[in-house]
Amino acid sequence: MTRHFLNLDRFDEITLRHMLKRGLDFKGKRAADPLPLRGRILAMIFEKPSTRTRVSFEAGMKQLGGDVVVLGQHDTQLGRGETVADTARVLSRYVDAIMIRTNDPAKLDELAAYASVPVINGLTDTTHPCQIMADIMTVEEHRGPIGGKVVAWSGDGNNVANTWIQAAALFGFEMRLACPANLPPDADIMAWALARGAKIVLTEDPAAAVKGADAVITDAWVSMGFESENRQQFLEPYAVTESLMAHAKPDALFLHCLPAHRGEEVTDGVIDGPWSVVWDEAENRLHAQKGILMWCLEGN
Ligand code: CP
Ligand code: NVA
Repeated sequence: MTRHFLNLDRFDEITLRHMLKRGLDFKGKRAADPLPLRGRILAMIFEKPSTRTRVSFEAGMKQLGGDVVVLGQHDTQLGRGETVADTARVLSRYVDAIMIRTNDPAKLDELAAYASVPVINGLTDTTHPCQIMADIMTVEEHRGPIGGKVVAWSGDGNNVANTWIQAAALFGFEMRLACPANLPPDADIMAWALARGAKIVLTEDPAAAVKGADAVITDAWVSMGFESENRQQFLEPYAVTESLMAHAKPDALFLHCLPAHRGEEVTDGVIDGPWSVVWDEAENRLHAQKGILMWCLEGN
């Protein structure tokens, strides 16, 4: 079986924790072999922009002894009509793994169906699993095991929110989401998590979601690819401000996958304030993804 990293719902907590531990071993310089991916090549397909995903995967592969090929939106024949399936077949003859950032999750699934090497989800319109692996690593480094904690989301029910819902079902924390009625999380993902017995609360009231929370999270009002929609009017009440943070636990953490739009979804006072762990969170993309790469390429 090819070891794809497509979405958290394909895994159990034990396997995901194994990846996180592996990443932490590299972070703590405890790995027996610091260059386990010598000679391995990761192709990265970007159909949307990226800073963190691009640089953390490239740095991570190189730090583990491997290398990368970066394929931007105008670099491949995908944009000229070559199919995803044919691209998957060809890239599989050259490289050891493929990461893709794309809009439609069906493209990710098609790539995985036709690739004979592992495929990693570097973000779609529906999910962003590498991010939430780094986020869980960050929460646990600062506050210990996430199981039983309360995590609050205030903002668009987007790809990052959807993946937090999946994580809640696997890692056993309560997920409270405050989203505008017209921008809810993915209904199928909600149904999947609830069917698994996850504690998920969906409200339109940010203060109710954040009340007593251990961690508060938000994201851009306008995700990549949704620029034509006028969402500001709906999302302004969901901004994470100092007064919203006052409803959370006094030692609550603030997370944001970044890039942040200061003065929109979060104030400078929060993102630069005592709650914020956003720089550790960004760093942990590097470490969490090393664990994911090791699972995909080495099976451990
Ligand atoms: N958080 C995140 O995925 O950032 P980039 O879009 O910069 O990769
Ligand atoms: N929700 C954001 C995340 C960016 C990393 C987007 O999709 O644009």
